[in-house]
Amino acid sequence: MKTFTIEVPIVEKQEDELTPEEAQLLQQAKEATERSYSPYSHFSVGAAALLADGTIVCGSNQENSAFPSGLCAERTTIFYANSRYPDQAVKMLCIAARDSSGQFTTQPVTPCGACRQVLSETEDRFGQPIRIMLYGTQGIYFANSAHDLLPVHFDGSFLK
Ligand code: THU
Repeated sequence: MKTFTIEVPIVEKQEDELTPEEAQLLQQAKEATERSYSPYSHFSVGAAALLADGTIVCGSNQENSAFPSGLCAERTTIFYANSRYPDQAVKMLCIAARDSSGQFTTQPVTPCGACRQVLSETEDRFGQPIRIMLYGTQGIYFANSAHDLLPVHFDGSFLK
């Protein structure tokens, strides 16, 4: 028997420690929460993706009365970015969320498993890691890549 231990570095910063580029992406993600359509969960998520050419693409969660038909902010954003700019790698993705009180979450908001899967494939597609920035008012987490958030993942190589 063997045991593998996977360690993943997560950096935590406070808002006043952000670089101008990070601060701009955070601002865009925060603003995107205002465009969330979340009448069922009242949990408004915004995401902002920085593309290789400097373009920033934003998205928010879009819910539906038939619950599984809705989509998270991360996938809305990534799918739009890849549809509109199919040749631009995604360099960084920032996520922010407001709860039913309208306040930003104190803890960093983390992507669901399905979003991690889509983000991982986006990294494979462009051959580049996506830096992931997760906003909370008490701290902001940074992961070096989506793969770091989804160890031992499934990918297209299994289908060859
Ligand atoms: N949601 C996101 O958009 N991203 C996340 O990282 C977590 C969850 C959405 C899905 C649903 O509209 C609402 O938040 C509650 O789960």
